[in-house]
Amino acid sequence: MSSAMQEMHVDIGLVNTIVARSSLSFIDGEKGILEYVGYDIDSLARHSTFEETAYLLWHQRLPSSSELQSFSSQLQLNYDLSESMWDMVVSLPRDASPMHALRTLTSALALEDPAADDSSPEANMRKSISMLAKIPAFIAGFDRHRKGLDLVRPNQDVSIAENFLYMLNGVKPTERMIRAMDICLILHADHGFNASTFASLVTISTLSDMYSAVTTAIGTLKGPLHGGANQGVMYMLNEIDSIDDVESYVMNKLTNHERVMGFGHRVYKAYDPRATYLKTFAEGIAEDTGNMELFNMSKKIEEIMDREVGAKGIYPNVDFYSATTYYSLGLDLDLFTPLFAMSRVSGWTAHCLEYLEDNRLIRPRCTYVGPHELKYEPISNR
Ligand code: ACO
Repeated sequence: MSSAMQEMHVDIGLVNTIVARSSLSFIDGEKGILEYVGYDIDSLARHSTFEETAYLLWHQRLPSSSELQSFSSQLQLNYDLSESMWDMVVSLPRDASPMHALRTLTSALALEDPAADDSSPEANMRKSISMLAKIPAFIAGFDRHRKGLDLVRPNQDVSIAENFLYMLNGVKPTERMIRAMDICLILHADHGFNASTFASLVTISTLSDMYSAVTTAIGTLKGPLHGGANQGVMYMLNEIDSIDDVESYVMNKLTNHERVMGFGHRVYKAYDPRATYLKTFAEGIAEDTGNMELFNMSKKIEEIMDREVGAKGIYPNVDFYSATTYYSLGLDLDLFTPLFAMSRVSGWTAHCLEYLEDNRLIRPRCTYVGPHELKYEPISNR
């Protein structure tokens, strides 16, 4: 091994490795703080909209009202899909998982973009707008297709949150549903160098295209240790018959060294600030929609986890109460992770745009631990 290699340390899971500088999100895992470009997540969730948040991430400042209006119009103009993309939506197997469908459709956007490989900042911004605007149509369109329902074309006069719910259900959503969806989108928009964002940066750092970077990210988000945990939470809640069974269920998981979905985080060793907000929010929606038993079960899981593993810094993460929120909104379980992607595409693309300003190929090393100097045996002797 060269002396330069010897000086390098092995950091499995990149737990202690900082790979770049970024001005997009600040996380203090000990204090439970999350800021997007300096703005506290709580203020954004209370006062902002998802469109404003996406603008903030892409431009690293809040928009004026005329800038926000023109940005929203640009997004709205991009909501609809080409006829060939709609055809592709309805050609997908009905029993496919929505995350596989979303990854395939996002990747296919490159096929109809003659400038797919133009990596100028202008072209990359245009593609970012297009993906942010079209992903809701992919998710809603595929969901209706698999249920044998007619497709609903987008409403280009409304916000991303409202348009998504409209395309999904075919009816105008209530104000409370729109606000709930919008807040979930804000809270999931960005989170430092999480696994899917990092994956997108690995792709873009090779000077590949934005569609490839986002496709990579969707595939990475899908895993149950990352964005797939929100539907995992709901499967878990469904497995528990009643609130009286919560104690034995959770204790059984912990005794068997199994993960309780929606708990723990690589960075937060305090309460995830997004979960703090979502907990209150989930309670309100559960109350409105007659899902209080589900909320109370979630609260009980949290109490037991706090008692058993709270001292290790394992608290609810963003996925835990977003599951109850999405369920109360009437969304199918396997749409929870696509919804995460629908929001996080703003963060993925913002990080790619930022990283490309001073690009360096991401290419880590590994320490070889296999054998050396083996004698090659011809296949006939093996
Ligand atoms: N349930 C039970 N125990 C847990 C959990 C959990 N959810 N999370 C961590 N632990 C325990 C581990 O068993 C381990 O215990 P030990 O030291 O006694 O062996 C210790 O906490 C550290 O766990 P690691 O896996 O080393 O921590 P890491 O930082 O690698 O993992 C992760 C973070 C993957 C998120 C983990 O907490 C987990 O698997 N959580 C469940 C899945 C989940 O909710 N993922 C969503 C994360 S947020 C997001 O991606 C949007």
